[in-house]
Amino acid sequence: MTTTISAVAVVPPGLEEPAAAELATLGASDLKPLHRAVRFGCDQATFYRLHLRARLPFRLLRQLARFPCTGKEALYQGIQRAVDWHQWLPPERSFRVDASGSAPGLNHSHYSALQVKNALVDWQRQHFGARSSVDLDTPDLSLHLHLGGGQAELSLDGSGASLHRRGYRPRQGLAPLKENLAAGLIRLTGWDGRVPLADPLCGSGTLLIEAVAMALGQPPGLEASTGEARPLALQQWSDFDPALWQHELDAARSAWRAGSMGCLSDGTPLAPVWGRDADAAVVSQARANADAAGVGPWLNLQSGDCRSFEPPAGAGILVCNPPYGARLGAGEHDQLEQLYADLGAMVKARCSGWTLWLLSGNPELTGALRLKTSRRVPVSNGGIDCRWLRYDIR
Ligand SMILES: C[S@@+](CC[C@H](N)C(=O)[O-])C[C@H]1O[C@@H](n2cnc3c(N)ncnc32)[C@H](O)[C@@H]1O
Repeated sequence: MTTTISAVAVVPPGLEEPAAAELATLGASDLKPLHRAVRFGCDQATFYRLHLRARLPFRLLRQLARFPCTGKEALYQGIQRAVDWHQWLPPERSFRVDASGSAPGLNHSHYSALQVKNALVDWQRQHFGARSSVDLDTPDLSLHLHLGGGQAELSLDGSGASLHRRGYRPRQGLAPLKENLAAGLIRLTGWDGRVPLADPLCGSGTLLIEAVAMALGQPPGLEASTGEARPLALQQWSDFDPALWQHELDAARSAWRAGSMGCLSDGTPLAPVWGRDADAAVVSQARANADAAGVGPWLNLQSGDCRSFEPPAGAGILVCNPPYGARLGAGEHDQLEQLYADLGAMVKARCSGWTLWLLSGNPELTGALRLKTSRRVPVSNGGIDCRWLRYDIR
């Protein structure tokens, strides 16, 4: 593989390792997990493939330039010299700039982004006698600046919109997980579609939907109903290669067609997947979401209390994200503590041989399960410090 692109995947905190593994499976190389990001190299075809098939990243940033940045002036000069802006940003194309990190005299990301914008429009006025407009919603070019370690890194965002939005979740229950976080949590369980999977508090069904779509190899970048690719910012880039894109799109479409038969890549039928939730309205939302994601036929979703959950035959994997709250009133806390105690008792009584993975945002509540963890993975769910806890049920 010719490595022509140096890139960074922005991923949920705590999922850097599984995200690096996913990128490697899809053809990326030189992987280096960072904090909330994975640095990697790839060729153009792989960069397109990752946009169509990777489930864990929020964004994939392609590096345009990296230069020393000692302050405001160095940033301004560095941006103007970074690349041939004749190629990347003629004045009829709109753009936006986002920034993160800091450098001396550049401590506010909004100000740093403004500095990049000024450098670009000044350069355009000098060379074209005209400037691009800034478009925050649907820019032709979405630029990202990262400052840190005395360096400035200027990148292009390949997707524009965040990749975690797969378009299958018009309806959501209470506190739904982001799709890419759910996919990463499932990756950590090692579930591959060959043993039963159940979520007895499934809410809008995100964990199960992501699990099934992943096991069936369905590309997240395609609309589940039509197999059409969602538009990506990279299709507007000056070096976009339509033939290469079509090749990757055709491969993604054949994976999508194969996946919609409900079999794993070796032809084995998918193991049973069960979900339930106490709230019947939430279960119908989960059904609508599963249908929109193209995995409806493979999910058995029912309304009911988790306490009366009867696991399907054969040991498998239980996943769940029960309610928790950072600041609970006394009554609410007691009720939830009882729910966790009952959940622990149900699992011990009926799920011998199963593995339970539970997303916890409140260690006091998980204590009420009265189960011993065999693994604890720190993750962040919408800014809340959580643990993805594994219990081996004897
Ligand atoms: C944090 S939400 C789960 C969100 C889900 N992971 C998603 O992405 O949509 C917790 C869910 O537990 C359900 N729940 C609460 N008590 C329950 C019980 N006793 N039995 C079954 N479900 C329950 C709630 O209705 C809610 O949908």
